[in-house]
Amino acid sequence: MAASVGRICGAGLLKSNSAITLNQISSFSTTREWSRGRKLLLATIGALTGGAGALAFALDQSVKASDLELHAPKNVWSHNGLFNSLDHASVRRGYEVYKQVCAACHSMRYVAYRDLVGVTHTEEQAKAEAEDIQVTDGPDDTGAMFQRPGKLSDYFPSPYPNEEAARAANNGAFPPPDLSYIVPARHGGEDYVFALLTGYCDAPAGVILRDGQ
Ligand code: HEC
Repeated sequence: MAASVGRICGAGLLKSNSAITLNQISSFSTTREWSRGRKLLLATIGALTGGAGALAFALDQSVKASDLELHAPKNVWSHNGLFNSLDHASVRRGYEVYKQVCAACHSMRYVAYRDLVGVTHTEEQAKAEAEDIQVTDGPDDTGAMFQRPGKLSDYFPSPYPNEEAARAANNGAFPPPDLSYIVPARHGGEDYVFALLTGYCDAPAGVILRDGQ
């Protein structure tokens, strides 16, 4: 290319110079050394990735019956927004509700008592909360397991020893999900959980509720 430009211009000096420069520059280019096959392969991979992404998006859209979908009403939360944080008094009340109501059925096994320190409780209070529960520890010197009061490093206790016990205690229903990450785990986040908890009402006329329903 450089040679042909040089020939058209008819400038011998320029021709040789520009040819050298272009050759030097071209030796810095990595793609130039790629074989045709490699370029083709990369282009194909790029096209396939783009195509797969578009297909996944289209499939996801097609299964959404958007006109039948019911969204939880949106609420204004004091913690939403880039520079806002959780209201600590509110989180403390939430812990109290969880402990007294929800903990009868739901575990929160990824939260430890130490996580309360400086968030909802002082260290002393969190220690006292932990000591209220009994934890199976061991084995001791004789090989037996034993019970001891909880420590800051212990996680919240689970209400059931296993999934079968959880099902049996809830009329065979899907075991109550662990609530540690329930907000990010549900479409609509806190709005969904709020709507769920406040959405219970009396059964419509004619519907007979069974025991435990
Ligand atoms: C009597 C036992 C019981 C109590 C008490 C209880 N739940 Fe549940 N909860 C369940 C069961 C069982 C399920 C699973 C229902 C299902 O999916 O079939 C469930 C499901 C849930 C779900 C998930 C719903 C979904 O979309 O999958 C959330 C969130 C929830 N409970 C929050 C709470 C909160 C918060 C409390 C305390 C205020 C609470 N629950 C108290 C038994 C209970």
